[in-house]
Amino acid sequence: MFKRSDITEKGYIDEKIEKGTDLKAEINKLRKEKNAVILAHYYQTPDIQDIADFVGDSLDLSRKAASVNADIILFAGVHFMAETAKILSPQTKVLIPDLNAGCSLSDSCPPEEFKKFVEANPDRTVITYINSAAEIKALSDIICTSTNAFKIVEYLPEDEKLIFAPDRNLGNYISNKVDRDMLIWQGACHVHEEFSLERILDIKNSNPDASIIVHPECELPVRMVADFIGSTGALLKHINKDDSLKYIVGTEPGIIHQMKKNRPDKTFIPAPAKDSTCGCSECNFMKLITMEKIYLSLKYEEPELIMNDELMKKAERPIRKMLEISDHLGI
Ligand code: 13P
Ligand code: SF4
Repeated sequence: MFKRSDITEKGYIDEKIEKGTDLKAEINKLRKEKNAVILAHYYQTPDIQDIADFVGDSLDLSRKAASVNADIILFAGVHFMAETAKILSPQTKVLIPDLNAGCSLSDSCPPEEFKKFVEANPDRTVITYINSAAEIKALSDIICTSTNAFKIVEYLPEDEKLIFAPDRNLGNYISNKVDRDMLIWQGACHVHEEFSLERILDIKNSNPDASIIVHPECELPVRMVADFIGSTGALLKHINKDDSLKYIVGTEPGIIHQMKKNRPDKTFIPAPAKDSTCGCSECNFMKLITMEKIYLSLKYEEPELIMNDELMKKAERPIRKMLEISDHLGI
């Protein structure tokens, strides 16, 4: 039997599961008993996506968290996503099966440094990507996701000076599309900056019929060869309606599971990373969540995400603003 101190140290419940346990059946039983819902991001492994009550991108998941009617949300994703769910549904117990599931992009924006940056630019509206810690959100005016970032920036009055944080690639992608006075925080996601342009072009040369589709967190040279750029949700919508039959997919390969389910008639090739043996660029943080950890987390209702009330209130305001603007714009 695990002890509370073990979770604090390890960040997850490390208990041996009896051989032959049907994890899917056990998870189903527990979620029913405990009135729990499992929310999963598209970057989770296929088994987790398939047992989830709801699978989506960051915007879908925050909307879902805001409207969920359950006693427990188990978040199969990374820490900032579970935090957002807790902020939007403070009465609900939020579980994250492994507290070590962080995010390199979120880590590239330390709150103390960001606070100084914001204070040094008091005349600017702060737009922050949802891939950030609650402390960063609390210092922001509006949150965005990769689905709505461009439209939110476009929606703000043209003379409004902006700060965009923390992703430099998403920031550059937006500032190349709109003429705005925008200071961009120089943070990045290691998964999306790892793609190799050279190796993508090699694949394209041997598959000239393939369309290159990438996430805006990718670097400019990769974005420049792309036929379509969008959030994970937008990429999924795109492959559903687009005519191509083959795609080179420049984002975390977890999304390919949904793409194949949506369009089994099409071929999806993960874009390769510079130094990978798996031939793709996986998010090691997302992949810390496993079926075993989900089962144990539901069983013991640990690790629970505990947040400071005042911080939650401060971080909630800019997230709600994002949801309001997105609803208003029909995104
Ligand atoms: P979206 O879910 O907005 O596509 O963001 C991708 C991502 O990097 C999540 O960590
Ligand atoms: Fe963070 Fe990148 Fe992983 Fe998304 S893919 S959770 S941005 S490290």
